[in-house]
Amino acid sequence: MRAWRRARGGSVGFVPTMGYLHAGHISLVEAARQQNETTVVSIFVNPTQFGPNEDFTRYPRDEVRDLALLKEAGVDAVYLPAVGDMYPEGHQTSVVVGAITQRLEGAARPGHFDGVATVVTKLFNAVEADRAYFGRKDAQQLRVIQRMVCDLDMAVEIVPCDIVRESDGLAMSSRNVYLTPEQRAAAPVISRTLFEARDRFVAGLVDAEALRTFVRSGISTSPLAEIEYVSVADNDSLEELDHPVTGRALLSVVVRFGRTRLLDNVELG
Ligand code: PAJ
Repeated sequence: MRAWRRARGGSVGFVPTMGYLHAGHISLVEAARQQNETTVVSIFVNPTQFGPNEDFTRYPRDEVRDLALLKEAGVDAVYLPAVGDMYPEGHQTSVVVGAITQRLEGAARPGHFDGVATVVTKLFNAVEADRAYFGRKDAQQLRVIQRMVCDLDMAVEIVPCDIVRESDGLAMSSRNVYLTPEQRAAAPVISRTLFEARDRFVAGLVDAEALRTFVRSGISTSPLAEIEYVSVADNDSLEELDHPVTGRALLSVVVRFGRTRLLDNVELG
């Protein structure tokens, strides 16, 4: 991969993914294509960011379809390492980012962000991109990567990209295929409630706890929705806020429908 990139020269935009691509991934590809001479996408379902009881083995995969979509989208190269390429026997180094990885998704999924930071570092080293594109859908992941790149002086610019949604508001995700028809029909309650909360915030509901309560009661109107967490946190550090929101904040939720965890968020301020 690195030899190909060096021979290619010019600017490279990079979109790391775990495949099973949807319009959210393709929007990252389009941003990369606009800003760089060459666009590279990786597809790698990274075992080290899944917990022992998570969905690594059943994570959806469709390499043939993904490659067709990426060809159609005008990508120049797709990097598809095997697990043994990324983690050959004897590997024992990982990248651990600090406090920001301990909250929210990091608290719910211990070790998750160590796996993410390590694999993203390895992918960055392979691709040597000038810019890398990450979705705001995974808001904490984006902040962890920004922190890591800053702290370790990595020579890559991180470009955040907006959340792409289905027409009914549900944030696109490879995991949406796990939903039963009934769960899928109920799932837009998440984005609807987040948008309502943002409207309330603009109208003056700025107390963090009041916002959390508003979101909890909105999502609870769906009997299929099980709230895992509702967070109003500092937009940069992701420290939970317990006072009126004055600066910028991230309102984020994880809601389970059956075994499927759905993440969504909106920025406030
Ligand atoms: P994956 O879940 O495949 O997501 C790849 C990228 O697409 C991430 O930056 C994610 O935020 C973005 N994305 C997903 N859904 C989106 C949506 N609806 N709108 C906009 N962007 C969206 O995130 C990962 O893979 C992995 O953790 C990875 C970074 C590849 C490391 O293994």
